[in-house]
Amino acid sequence: MEIRPTTDRDLDVFVDTVHAAFGRFPETPIEGGGLWWSALEMDRCLLALTADGRPVGTAATHAFELTLPGETLVPAPGVTAVGVLPSHRRQGVLSAMMRHQLTELRARGEFLSVLLASEAPIYGRFGYGPATYTARLTVPRHQAALAVPRARGVVHAPAAGSDQGWGQGPDQGWDQGSNDGSVEVLRRAECGEILEDVYDRYRRAQPGALSRPHRWWALRAGQPPISPAPRYVAVHRDADGVPDGYASYSTESGTLTVDETIATDDAVFAALARFVLGHDLVSQVVFQHVPPGHPLRWQLADFRAGEVSGDMDWLWVRLLDVPRALTARGWFLDGELVLDIHDPFLGEHDRYLLTVQDSKADCVPTDRDPDLSLDISDLGSVYLGGTAPSTLVRAGHIRAHRPGAATLADALFRAERSPHCLHWF
Ligand SMILES: CC(C)(COP(=O)(O)OP(=O)(O)OC[C@H]1O[C@@H](n2cnc3c(N)ncnc32)[C@H](O)[C@@H]1OP(=O)(O)O)[C@@H](O)C(=O)NCCC(=O)NCCS
Repeated sequence: MEIRPTTDRDLDVFVDTVHAAFGRFPETPIEGGGLWWSALEMDRCLLALTADGRPVGTAATHAFELTLPGETLVPAPGVTAVGVLPSHRRQGVLSAMMRHQLTELRARGEFLSVLLASEAPIYGRFGYGPATYTARLTVPRHQAALAVPRARGVVHAPAAGSDQGWGQGPDQGWDQGSNDGSVEVLRRAECGEILEDVYDRYRRAQPGALSRPHRWWALRAGQPPISPAPRYVAVHRDADGVPDGYASYSTESGTLTVDETIATDDAVFAALARFVLGHDLVSQVVFQHVPPGHPLRWQLADFRAGEVSGDMDWLWVRLLDVPRALTARGWFLDGELVLDIHDPFLGEHDRYLLTVQDSKADCVPTDRDPDLSLDISDLGSVYLGGTAPSTLVRAGHIRAHRPGAATLADALFRAERSPHCLHWF
């Protein structure tokens, strides 16, 4: 078997092969996935070929930027279009492509890579660990009242089902004292530039978020609201009329589904949530992509009004250069830990002293006794602060060598807020 990089001339065969691996047809756009393949960069794709030249496997990366804790933006190849023809599975084709890809990424100087997994058991063996999580929150409209925020001196609690209607109107209710913005409903086709700009401002401050390169918006490659699927978009503007949030949504059979609510601060999020929860002629509102610990559940007057479902992993992280990765992210507490790290797929075993002082990290090889022994996939899971090291100790994956090591690791690795990614690729 040969694994080779592709060129523009391979686009059709690449797209055909990955569709065949997923049992789909290129001429039928994947529901919710739109024209995903139009964003492929053919100098970042791999084809696996049999000895007689037949393509049997595919893998690619997108050039994204990832926001680390501390609002640090770093390059993050996003692994995608991974597939092996049903006739050639369980013969090591994916393993060979993963080895080729990781070696190539390292040679290019990347220190981490990320992906979304179609099935959870696939990628751990290659050193990836789940690092961000997501869920759906369903709120019946008759229970949609928002609570009065105790800390903000709010003067008015919005009623469930209040009618905002179409067109512009001042925000009433949530944090009336400080948020006198407005919400306007536009069609998706009218507001692409607004979405692109607001998303970009949002993702720079959100740990775990990925950039959405301009070509994705221009080509409408991806899930709504990037894709050409018809959508309404509630655009929130600040008091000066500058867009600072949006909720992309559609309604069907009495359910209003919000693809994503993007807000540059929590008050804007609440204003958008209040807007969609007040929509007439729907019996429930489904918020896609609400991360664990999101304030929305607390903002509902009835804490049980929101039903959480579809709780799952989203972004998986693979570290390729531990010292560079650990010194790149922001840290919020001083301390030191000795990490003994196994990387079975790449056949590596290293021990590092991680020292954080004045919020700056240093990470150097050491022969000191370890505080924690862990697999590279576990380090990927805790890296963005979305998985507590102590959870993985309790699960039997990470070994803590002294009392207090897991508690210190929890405090050290925590991010300024729960990491979250909602970009699909
Ligand atoms: C997932 C997929 C790419 C795996 O390719 P493959 O060539 O069969 O994988 P390999 O032969 O290299 O498998 C390596 C190991 O992973 C395991 N593995 C692979 N796919 C697995 C899966 N879906 N579930 C559980 N284990 C899996 C294999 O059993 C093997 O284990 P072993 O080393 O203990 O024998 C292939 O099944 C596929 O194309 N599936 C449909 C499309 C898809 O889901 N792509 C992933 C998108 S994120």
